[in-house]
Amino acid sequence: MTEITRDVVIVGAGAAGLTAANQLRKAGLSVAVLEARDRVGGRLWTDTIDGAMLEIGGQWVSPDQDALIETIDELGLETYERYRDGDSVYVGADGVAHRFTGDLFPAGAETERIISEIGERLDAMVAGIDPDRPWAHPQAAEWDAISWDAWLRAQTDDDEAIRNLAFATGPAMLTKPTHAFSLLQSLLMAASAGSYSHLVDADFILDKRVVGGLQQVPLLLAERLGGDVFLNQPVRTLEYGDGGVTAVADGMTVRARHAILALAPVLYNRISFVPPLPRLQHQMHQHISMGFVIKVHAVYDRPFWREQGLSGTAFSPYELSHEAYDNTNFGDERGTLVGFVSDRNADDLFRLSAEERKQRILESLSHYYGPEAKNPVVYYESDWGSEEWTRGAYAASFDLGGLSRYGADLRTPVGPIHFACSDMAGAGYQHVDGAIRMGRLAAEQIVADARG
Ligand code: FDA
Repeated sequence: MTEITRDVVIVGAGAAGLTAANQLRKAGLSVAVLEARDRVGGRLWTDTIDGAMLEIGGQWVSPDQDALIETIDELGLETYERYRDGDSVYVGADGVAHRFTGDLFPAGAETERIISEIGERLDAMVAGIDPDRPWAHPQAAEWDAISWDAWLRAQTDDDEAIRNLAFATGPAMLTKPTHAFSLLQSLLMAASAGSYSHLVDADFILDKRVVGGLQQVPLLLAERLGGDVFLNQPVRTLEYGDGGVTAVADGMTVRARHAILALAPVLYNRISFVPPLPRLQHQMHQHISMGFVIKVHAVYDRPFWREQGLSGTAFSPYELSHEAYDNTNFGDERGTLVGFVSDRNADDLFRLSAEERKQRILESLSHYYGPEAKNPVVYYESDWGSEEWTRGAYAASFDLGGLSRYGADLRTPVGPIHFACSDMAGAGYQHVDGAIRMGRLAAEQIVADARG
């Protein structure tokens, strides 16, 4: 068993952990990053499957994500726009594929009116929410006591409007059934991206990608740390006290003054804390859970939908794949579509055989793009639910009532232990931008502490 001593031990080599480690290094502190997997990046993972480069995890960058954009620039990476020329497709309650432009789904005049009106109301509510302190809003407790679904149903009885309004923070973001999280959680999701309208606008929230893949961000951050990143080192035990921390992984022990837990909060209970974490953390961490979405990649010999004047952007609250986009790689002559299957639909699909699942998903994509969508040359499903060191996608959120009850305590350090993850961010919540912000914040707290 190797034993080393550092100023700070960081558990997890995702965007949050690696950002923190680099910031600490810059401030003159020594670090060790212990990573359970055999690779860095966590939920950022760019891989080649059957000859196609795929973004198995996170990929898009939006214009408000300053922390991520700064990091991308600083690392010298290039970005490019998601392909968006042409018509989008919406499959409504009638099961027909309707072409449209803009960000309002063509759901019928009265339904569109209701969507716009409630959308404006939501924007006004979101404007009053500080994403770093949603619990501080005067109506936080009230808004955290009602589910997103129940609140929407109290606004209108137009089912198509409800499904469309629910979409932006539900299947598209928190990836849990809309009765399983609160209105407040939904408003936080929107506030973290600046407004509810931003989430509805695919050209905003899914604006750009990184040439060569977003995993280069953690790969390059790790490269700067050289030999201080240790792979295949799941931390099993964390002893802590006034004298600092001792992290015991499978092959090594690190003694340090501080620790940063830079992993999804749902995984904290995989670590034995000595002494046990305080009562508040024991309770709080049980009220956070991962969403679940399958990211589906289908690569074709060419982007055939563009020939029909389609942008590749497609939505339907009635389809298995509730949203899909042109995800063609930079400079690639082949065409790639990416689709998403969320929460209960994803559960149901994983009860089927792989072949049946593929057939159902491609059938759904064909409703947007026509029968050619059924014959990709490469097909792959990102299944983060079966990843031991993540356990879901995209990220974690509180159950009903949890955000107002515990949100304010989520980032509070416990003695020498600090917490950093996209799943506890305000701005950039559930996104790489938020992971970077949280990594910076934990590092700043430790540097301030070290300077007394
Ligand atoms: P992350 O989970 O990445 O890192 C934690 C690390 O800790 C992991 O490497 C893990 O292995 C490690 N670990 C866990 N337990 C450990 C232990 N006991 N010991 C040691 N190591 C341990 N975001 C975005 O901005 N744009 C997008 O388009 C998308 N899309 C998207 C798609 C999919 C399919 C997913 C899964 C996610 C996204 N996201 C996204 C979200 C984004 O990827 C995510 O928010 C961040 O990458 C999370 O970074 P963190 O560092 O916070 O956690």
